[in-house]
Amino acid sequence: MSLENLGIFIDGQVMADANLATIDVINPATARPIKRLIRGQAAEVDAAVQSARKTFETKAWRRMPTAQRGQILLKISEAIRANEEHLATLESTDVGKPIAQARNDVRTTARYFEYYGGMVDKVLGTTIPVRWGALDMTLREPYGVSAQIIPWNYPLSMGARGIAPALAAGNCVVAKPAEDASLSLVELARIAHAAGLPAGAFNVVTGYGQEAGAALVRHPLVSHVTFTGSVATGSAIMKMAAETIKPVSLELGGKSPNIVFADADLAAAAAQIARVIVLNSGQTCNTCSRLLVDKSIHDTLLEQVLTKFDQVRMGDPLGGADMGPVISAKQKKAIEGFLATAEQDGATMTRHGHPPEDSNLRDGFFVRPTVLNNVRPQHRVFREEIFGPVLAVSSFSDEAEAVTLANDSDYGLNAGIFTKDVERAIRLAHEIQAGQIYVNGFGTGGSVEVPFGGMKKSGFNREKGIEGFLNYTQTKSVTFHFKTE
Ligand code: NAI
Ligand code: MG
Repeated sequence: MSLENLGIFIDGQVMADANLATIDVINPATARPIKRLIRGQAAEVDAAVQSARKTFETKAWRRMPTAQRGQILLKISEAIRANEEHLATLESTDVGKPIAQARNDVRTTARYFEYYGGMVDKVLGTTIPVRWGALDMTLREPYGVSAQIIPWNYPLSMGARGIAPALAAGNCVVAKPAEDASLSLVELARIAHAAGLPAGAFNVVTGYGQEAGAALVRHPLVSHVTFTGSVATGSAIMKMAAETIKPVSLELGGKSPNIVFADADLAAAAAQIARVIVLNSGQTCNTCSRLLVDKSIHDTLLEQVLTKFDQVRMGDPLGGADMGPVISAKQKKAIEGFLATAEQDGATMTRHGHPPEDSNLRDGFFVRPTVLNNVRPQHRVFREEIFGPVLAVSSFSDEAEAVTLANDSDYGLNAGIFTKDVERAIRLAHEIQAGQIYVNGFGTGGSVEVPFGGMKKSGFNREKGIEGFLNYTQTKSVTFHFKTE
């Protein structure tokens, strides 16, 4: 069977050079190849970076009137909405996420362009009183070429999370999507240029992390690096960026807790807990993969969570299933490895949901929603990110123990608190080491207005919101002198 090549997107054009090496694109629901990616190397990365830098230096983007730059981003947002079904189908097929979730991701993607499009002409500098005879003002300038290393779990929406503010601030972008899911990002580049983005403002080079990704981070004309993915790769990227003193933004996942107290609305808590860990088959950086529950309600809450898990229908992501497969055979194997050690460590495991019946999906990378009970801090599954639909449950006796368990982690991305006691919620919101806290409700994607990012090994710098825009600017201070008597 001959498969079509997905081009790389350089200087406003799709380039599908048949002579370049390729990587098979696998549909995770069937385990079958559906397309081929170009295996970009240093030469393709260099062409993309040169194009971005050239565009950065012309009048085409950063020197354009701010209102006009904002309007182009708003047009991109409209074009994304107009292509919702097309983009959602690509994302759902490539990543394996249910089409309804992929549609949500497309809407979030459009929101990023809308939100940051509206911000272009509203981010102001300051004037600073220094002394009589001088006036100081600050300018917020773009860095130049922004490198975006994007993971496979939310290629479109996480891509837009960095690309939209980088562009809004006047930077030009080279993105390297993950080898496991690149289809939607190349399409986003095409749509953005058709909507009026100048050639070179946003390039996409597909390929492996060690090849195209590393070449991009190391490129001397790249001025800023944004990365979302694993701690190990984040650390490697920091080291590479250090060689040329590039600022980096890292979002490295988590092992976030949901903490449920005895006074909480248990039905609401159970629904949220089950929904969040099943979303995108548990492959969400800010999912809550640890459940910390008050001993006195442990059994009642767990029963409600299990009932929800039992209802999950796994199947064809395009066909209305509640949960699709995980991204790859490698990811499935890694998850099963975690489950085996959990049982050896002494956790009790139960597996739930309805596996797909369709014989076409027989080889797909499906993993059942799984609960690990009696998980203790010394267990591997308490500490490490599993990135699958697996909930690790531990119980606590009082608030102090809940806080200790919550903070007993190398990560600090998110936390959920379920309680009706307002004072306790405020106290815990201060005590818990995480970049984002949810009280009595939970959001994972969406909310582009709210700053997002981690503490500890979950990374640093914030994306989304106004901070997400400022992240793509550097402050310049200008002092004017005037003669005085
Ligand atoms: P990864 O961190 O290796 O990959 C993420 C991105 O980095 C991909 O685009 C990849 O091509 C690129 N990359 C890899 N090595 C690179 C290098 N040396 N230089 C530049 N770019 C490089 O993650 P992987 O292997 O796909 O998944 C492993 C685990 O990472 C998952 O099980 C999960 O725990 C975590 N992860 C967390 C994510 C998050 O949302 N925070 C997203 C994806 C993975
Ligand atoms: Mg794929």
